[in-house]
Amino acid sequence: MKESSPAIPSRRTRVQFSRLTGILLVLVAACALALAGCGGGRKRSLAGQPGAVAPGFEKGSLIGVALPQKTSENWVLAEKLFQEGLKESGYRADVQFGNGGVPEQQNQVQTMVIKGARVIIVGAIDGAQLGAQVKEAKASGATVIAYDRLLLNTRAVDYYVAYDNFKVGVLQGRALLEGLKKRKGQPPWNVELLAGSPDDANSKVFFDGAMSVLQPRIDDGTLVVKSGQTSFSQTSTQGWKSENAQKRMDTIFAGTYSKAELAGVLAPNDTLARAVLTSARAAGKALPVVTGQDSEVESVKSILKGEQYSTINKDTANLVRHAIVMVNDLQQGKVPELNDTTSYNNGVRVVPAYLLEPRIVTLENVRESYANDPVLKHVVNP
Ligand code: BGC
Repeated sequence: MKESSPAIPSRRTRVQFSRLTGILLVLVAACALALAGCGGGRKRSLAGQPGAVAPGFEKGSLIGVALPQKTSENWVLAEKLFQEGLKESGYRADVQFGNGGVPEQQNQVQTMVIKGARVIIVGAIDGAQLGAQVKEAKASGATVIAYDRLLLNTRAVDYYVAYDNFKVGVLQGRALLEGLKKRKGQPPWNVELLAGSPDDANSKVFFDGAMSVLQPRIDDGTLVVKSGQTSFSQTSTQGWKSENAQKRMDTIFAGTYSKAELAGVLAPNDTLARAVLTSARAAGKALPVVTGQDSEVESVKSILKGEQYSTINKDTANLVRHAIVMVNDLQQGKVPELNDTTSYNNGVRVVPAYLLEPRIVTLENVRESYANDPVLKHVVNP
């Protein structure tokens, strides 16, 4: 996914498109003939095909929502918002957390299929481990929506609704550079990199987005990664766990920065950003410029105190609302509104998506950013 995907399809895409149109016309004609030959009475079932327009379903149907572990506040909030929003829109909701890990989430999705859920919304723990379950969901006629995290290596995912994850990474990379300029004097600056959990499909996308901004500055010597750990596998944080990030940072502070100053850290979310700050304090070091994501209450307070440099505003209420708008469209037998059909390739297909715009938040705009947030408005304007 590039930062700006072309709005107008390329010539090649258009050529392919017209060829495709030709093939489709032939196919349509062939199908019409075949149906006429068989008496024409039978409708072909589209169930099981990704993105196929299902015939709609009754209000009051069951909608399944499979969420991962409670690794950040946004997931906890999503549970409540899905329960309330789906009920308000007239559905029965089955919202589950996979706190016990991948096998538990696999069972939860399977149970939703058995219970006859018409749409299954999945925020995967491990995007590559639900292939069999979503295949069953498609075979049962349900629509599968990947929520926030993409489902990988499967054709059995119809739609994706998320904040643009690559853009999140780009904003984090830019914020780190801007923070260094504002708070850490002249370059070169020593920085370290942290990435999210390797099983979460988002983590690599956040990292790639950030590195699209930072790598050129590492190459030209503006940034120096003194530990030498710059790959995704060296920097990832299993389970998005704060203790894992803190342990790694403790080791880096003790080994690499016993004398040198660590000026900045790319942290992929707020939980890990706070782990970096805790580690710096424990090592008796000046606080580095640290990025984040999620607008967690403790991190917003830290930004107000001038400690954590930035976070990302990805309003969960907005994301859940869009997921429910998709459900409403499907209920009426309509194709949901999509705004990106090129960026999110899951390994076997490009999943059509509705992407929302993430926003960077620093001390400069923190008050206006959350002025209308039901919880954070009290934090920024007590
Ligand atoms: C979400 C982030 C969150 C992380 C850990 C990611 O998939 O996009 O917002 O910080 O999971 O929960």
